[in-house]
Amino acid sequence: MSFTVAIDGPAAAGKGTISRAVAAHFGFAHLDTGLLYRAVGARMLDGLDPVEAARTLDPEALERSDLRAPEVAQAASKVAAIPDVRAALVDFQRAFAMRAGGAVLDGRDIGTVICPEAPAKLFVTASDTVRAERRFRELTDKGVETSLEEVLTEMRERDARDSARAAAPLRPAQDAVILDTSRLSIDDAVAAAIETIRTRQQG
Ligand code: DC
Repeated sequence: MSFTVAIDGPAAAGKGTISRAVAAHFGFAHLDTGLLYRAVGARMLDGLDPVEAARTLDPEALERSDLRAPEVAQAASKVAAIPDVRAALVDFQRAFAMRAGGAVLDGRDIGTVICPEAPAKLFVTASDTVRAERRFRELTDKGVETSLEEVLTEMRERDARDSARAAAPLRPAQDAVILDTSRLSIDDAVAAAIETIRTRQQG
């Protein structure tokens, strides 16, 4: 039987960490849908037309090692505003969501557009300064040279674009449980997410 968990939220709110932990806990498959947009963004930076890149996307492209780079994140956010790019990626995401054994998808529009019928929906958020500090640490740990100010500016720009676009803007589904991780440890955030999903599984 399939069981879909939809986890949405802005950049660096903790969606990825929570999604991976939740998937491991329940034995569900996990899809980071941001990687789809990042892969399309990377192909656009390579010179391809973004709609063509989305239509011909090979799941192996999700393994590209440069997808976490800040310029790819910006490119992802730009291609994500193109309705034909989004449309080309819908079937892949819905097929993943219907996998037997359960699936966790994280992104921006999983609860609102991709899987509006998902029984469990979380909207993971945190203040923008907390999110920028987390992302800054993540990037410097990887050896990327940047400043906290630059990370905060880029993140605000990306969130504004993701929230203001006409096609599937970033917003919580009406039936999503909001999880603000600003003051939560990773363990506490994961525990809260697991508890929410368990309740939905029983309901
Ligand atoms: O989650 P992320 O930071 O890897 O996502 C990169 C960009 O992709 C993000 O700025 C907006 C876009 N995105 C989207 O529009 N819809 C999704 N479901 C996931 C990501």
